[in-house]
Amino acid sequence: MVSNAMLASQLDTSDEWITTRTGISQRHVVDPGTSTSDLAVEAGRRAIDNADVETIDYVVLATTTPDRICPATAPEVASRLGLGHVPAFDISAVCSGFLYGVQMARALISGNLARAVMVIGAESFSTLLDPCDRTTRPIFGDGAGAVIFRAGRSDECGALLAVNLHSDGALADLIAVDGGGARARSAGRHDPAYIRMRGRSTFIQAIKHMEEVTLRTLDEVGWKVDEVDHLVGHQANQRILLSLAKHLGLPEEAAVINIREVGNTAAASIPLALDYGVRTGRIARGHKIVMPAFGAGATWGAAVLTWPDLKRAEA
Ligand code: ACO
Repeated sequence: MVSNAMLASQLDTSDEWITTRTGISQRHVVDPGTSTSDLAVEAGRRAIDNADVETIDYVVLATTTPDRICPATAPEVASRLGLGHVPAFDISAVCSGFLYGVQMARALISGNLARAVMVIGAESFSTLLDPCDRTTRPIFGDGAGAVIFRAGRSDECGALLAVNLHSDGALADLIAVDGGGARARSAGRHDPAYIRMRGRSTFIQAIKHMEEVTLRTLDEVGWKVDEVDHLVGHQANQRILLSLAKHLGLPEEAAVINIREVGNTAAASIPLALDYGVRTGRIARGHKIVMPAFGAGATWGAAVLTWPDLKRAEA
């Protein structure tokens, strides 16, 4: 765990700046040598323990920080989870990655190609942070969360009712890691693989797109905004989440916010926030949940579901 005070002792920043601008008090960072697959396996194992499924047919891993450039990390995760020779692949959609994974699960199940799909969001995001960059290092943290989707009926608790996804590559430069990519290497450059972010512009785009896609997704399933129990959005910034709730006409209390404890964990952010909402007793069976995200790419989207009956997780 890295506190704001620890960062303030190393960078030109302060607990006051980080807390008021982002809502973050601490973030978790992997131990030396620990990587994304280690976090993903742990999250996947806990999801299997809580799920009511016999077998898992696919593993989808959303991550910005795969263990290696090649191969994908998902096959190793599936193997270490003892899932045999199931198809397993990575998705790279940064902070929207979990929602992209959710859409894959929905497509595979509704297309009768799978009965159960594990979607994991896992990040060792600290490995992309320039230790000297005060504009990114306080923001991001490491973590993993996993959800298992299974075939079912749209009227049962736990139904995933709609997912909408978007991208705009014209905004690719808002948040990027150039070093290590093929364009840099083919030009003979060996820049460090550190993330850079145009925070203010991202902030504006994030609220605009998440508001629009959230309203459209709610409309698609016929839910009025005031029927929503929880806004479990990508935890990029507490101000973004509260501003989004306000723009949507939701009370602040509807926003499930755990960014204070974990920072922005990119693809792991929404599943970690869901887990936090359940563990703190806020999210319960049948609750109506909307999950918007915006991230690098640019990519964004929203998903709506009702919360399932997870007896062990709620115990
Ligand atoms: N400590 C102290 N001062 C700082 C720090 C810091 N850690 N970082 C920046 N500053 C300074 C800046 O230099 C600037 O100083 P200046 O006014 O003298 O130029 C001032 O603080 C304001 O900087 P801004 O970047 O304008 O601050 P802002 O209020 O916009 O907050 C933040 C920055 C937190 C990054 C915010 O813009 C944000 O959350 N953006 C959206 C991030 C997001 O949604 N990302 C998408 C998902 S992430 C992904 O996909 C990987």
